[in-house]
Amino acid sequence: MTGTRHHARASTAISRTGGRFSKGLAAFRKDHVMHDSQPRPLSAAKSPALSGRARVPGDKSISHRSLMFGGLAAGETRITGLLEGEDVLRTGAAMRAMGAAIEQRGDEWIVNGTGNGALIEPTEPLDFGNAGTGARLTMGLVGSYDMTTRFIGDASLSKRPMARVLDPLRLMGMQVLEAEAGDRLPITLRGPKHAAPISYRVPMPSAQVKSAVLLASLNTPGVTTVIEPVATRDHTEKMLIGFGAALEVETDADGVRHIRIEGQPKLTGQTIAVPGDPSSAAFPLVAGLIVPGSDIVIENILMNPTRTGLIDTLLEMGGDIEFLDRRNAGGEDVADLRVRGSELKGVTVPAERAPSMIDEYPVLAVAASFAEGDTLMQGLEELRVKESDRLSAVANGLKANGVDCVEGEATLKVTGRPGGKGLGGGTVETHLDHRIAMSFLVMGLAAEKPVTVDDQAMIATSFPDFTGLMQRLGARFQ
Ligand code: S3P
Repeated sequence: MTGTRHHARASTAISRTGGRFSKGLAAFRKDHVMHDSQPRPLSAAKSPALSGRARVPGDKSISHRSLMFGGLAAGETRITGLLEGEDVLRTGAAMRAMGAAIEQRGDEWIVNGTGNGALIEPTEPLDFGNAGTGARLTMGLVGSYDMTTRFIGDASLSKRPMARVLDPLRLMGMQVLEAEAGDRLPITLRGPKHAAPISYRVPMPSAQVKSAVLLASLNTPGVTTVIEPVATRDHTEKMLIGFGAALEVETDADGVRHIRIEGQPKLTGQTIAVPGDPSSAAFPLVAGLIVPGSDIVIENILMNPTRTGLIDTLLEMGGDIEFLDRRNAGGEDVADLRVRGSELKGVTVPAERAPSMIDEYPVLAVAASFAEGDTLMQGLEELRVKESDRLSAVANGLKANGVDCVEGEATLKVTGRPGGKGLGGGTVETHLDHRIAMSFLVMGLAAEKPVTVDDQAMIATSFPDFTGLMQRLGARFQ
């Protein structure tokens, strides 16, 4: 089958999109066509010392929000460094379906928003593919609009709990017209004529839930308050202030954050340079530490403290990570990371650190597999509701590759084997989870025997050039 035929089919399926934008979507639809028909396994083998410089794609959380807030704001938003991964392109397609104009010009994405309060009802279901962030934040965004919106997604997203965002939105007046058991996709929402502001204490540490309520407040009169007992990534707060919202955060004596936002703000287009994603940098970072003799530099990584828990943990494990050229770019700290092969030792990772490294536990478990002694990770309950049940996917993948580990309800203990002696030789079930696939491919680069993942297709959701980038550093895939 030729690429042209794929492109023609995809363009028809998304006829509301055009130009360069639809090419990106066509490319990932092509992956999906292949994925649907046949999984594409990939193996990683013991590699020589990694070397060179790498630039990982733009931060996924900031990329989603750039398209959403740009699509909503009045005037033009210009974005550089956008992650052109499947998940983010889906968010772009959804914003287009609700009236935003989005196009790619050279290295820049140009968004012309509808103006806050002026989204239009989409005529077709919004398909978020694998993306929890896109789906949950958009539910918040449309939840306060007097319109009907249907949400669909892939098999992984359709298993994930949506009640966590639907519950506060119901309190604001939104109706759920259709949902699968347990508030799962496909879901159809109907916003109220006039949404009511709420004060909402987020019951689990989740930036997506916090953000859904804050986004619903944008089309709600009065002051909405979100109370966040455990701090999670703060991109929504920071970026909404940047776009012109009146939002204040107060942290009380117990460390509880009170976020207050004035409804119906005027939002104005911004210029955004998206920094490199620390959650994607995690893969070359751990590879650089566990492949002996490696010396690599990963450039332009977001250093927001709500995102750097993995780096803190790897430093405690004895990882040789140097911060070069720490600087501020567009309101966020960024740095280049120099990483050298290191002899790691096991540590206990406290539960409080989980929100700042929530997406990095699979690859931390891989680092722990090469460390001296035990690594105990605590407070992992949220891992059970990610793109897969990541706690059991990781434990099963480790066991399949000779790693001793104990999976608890919300804990994981990994006993390392320095030098990777006896590790590898297994096949890992990825369960449509990009981070499971990338983590175990990293394991294969330092294990005695190759490590195989059953399907590489989902890597395109967050890190389309993962294999190319790793190969340029010296990684061996087969
Ligand atoms: C994200 C929040 C986190 C994280 C996800 C991105 C975001 O999810 O796992 O990859 O951009 O807000 P939760 O809110 O479910 O913790």
